[in-house]
Amino acid sequence: MFPPFQFFSPVEFVFGPGRSAEAGDRLRARGLARALVVTDPGIVAAGIAERIEQALVDRGVAVARFTDVKSNPTVDNVDAGAEALRSFGADAVIGLGGGSPIDAAKIIAAVSANGCSAHDLMTGARTIEVPGVPQIAIPTTAGSGAESAKVSVLVDHATGEKKGVFGPGTAPWITILDPELQLGLPPRLTAATGMDALSHALEAYLGVAANPFSDAIAEQSMRLVAAFIERAVADGADLEARSALTVASALGGLAKEQSGLGILHAVAMPVGYLYDLHHGYLCAALMPATLDYNRSAVPAKTAWVARTFGVDEPDPDAAATAAGATIAALNDRIGMGIGLADAGVQPDDHGRIVEDAMKSYLLKNNPVPGTPEGCRAVLEASL
Ligand SMILES: [Fe+2]
Repeated sequence: MFPPFQFFSPVEFVFGPGRSAEAGDRLRARGLARALVVTDPGIVAAGIAERIEQALVDRGVAVARFTDVKSNPTVDNVDAGAEALRSFGADAVIGLGGGSPIDAAKIIAAVSANGCSAHDLMTGARTIEVPGVPQIAIPTTAGSGAESAKVSVLVDHATGEKKGVFGPGTAPWITILDPELQLGLPPRLTAATGMDALSHALEAYLGVAANPFSDAIAEQSMRLVAAFIERAVADGADLEARSALTVASALGGLAKEQSGLGILHAVAMPVGYLYDLHHGYLCAALMPATLDYNRSAVPAKTAWVARTFGVDEPDPDAAATAAGATIAALNDRIGMGIGLADAGVQPDDHGRIVEDAMKSYLLKNNPVPGTPEGCRAVLEASL
């Protein structure tokens, strides 16, 4: 049986190679003509920002560029972006990049419209009451799922806090999924971001709040990752594989938005924060242990995951038991098979990681209740 649920997404998804060039037409059709492009220096260096901006200008949209976005966007980044939006008089925002610029773009629009600071939103002193200018999300990696979600994860160095912020209008108005933008992504980043996409679908699928709508979305996301991640890692120019992962990421984001995450992300957060390790790599590293830890509560779903990733085992219990090792073998094949100890995670920090993981609301959604022993077990089995 599944819990009571509702399903809603305000995001219009547009998929197709080359379709990022349509952003300007979409804006003009709505009477919008001044766009702030929120991106980061890596996207600029790759030539992608210029390509998108030129396409906007060709359609009569004036553009300004804002690139001061850290890989974990900060409240200061958002406030500076809101100032850039105001001074340019932007009537639209384009979030262009991985999850960080897309997340920053969502709250830049909100902060500007609500006349507050992002810090106020983090502390709860203010809430987002009115929607900001419309935003278009154009992801350049396939993993974060930010392109499907209303929530943005921000860091506030004044309080040391990292948390999700959202409100009316913070979801992208349109998300343009253009796999051509990802053709140059290096294998390591392709693998890490792909495993992040998979982790969203997986945790939403196994979680307490899973429902038939999110299950359908999560299953298709996982099928696409299973069928195409190795191809995309082996040949970055494989447009079919890039297309599949681009869609898998958006589906994973949608599944997560509807049904939440669990112990994998609860443990990944403090490890990522303490060691500045790539979030997608951490998802890959923690996934086998997560499957093993959760297996007893969701055996049929764990068996489904195992079979989707190639386990040929008619007995459901045997299939479920093989799930963790199957993902570990996939990690080895795509260059993600590095244990957390080899990545630098120190025994002295295990206690603090467990303590911080236990503060996560995500543990409530995990199919096996998230306990300190459980978080420690997942962490230590991933070393
Ligand atoms: Fe994630």
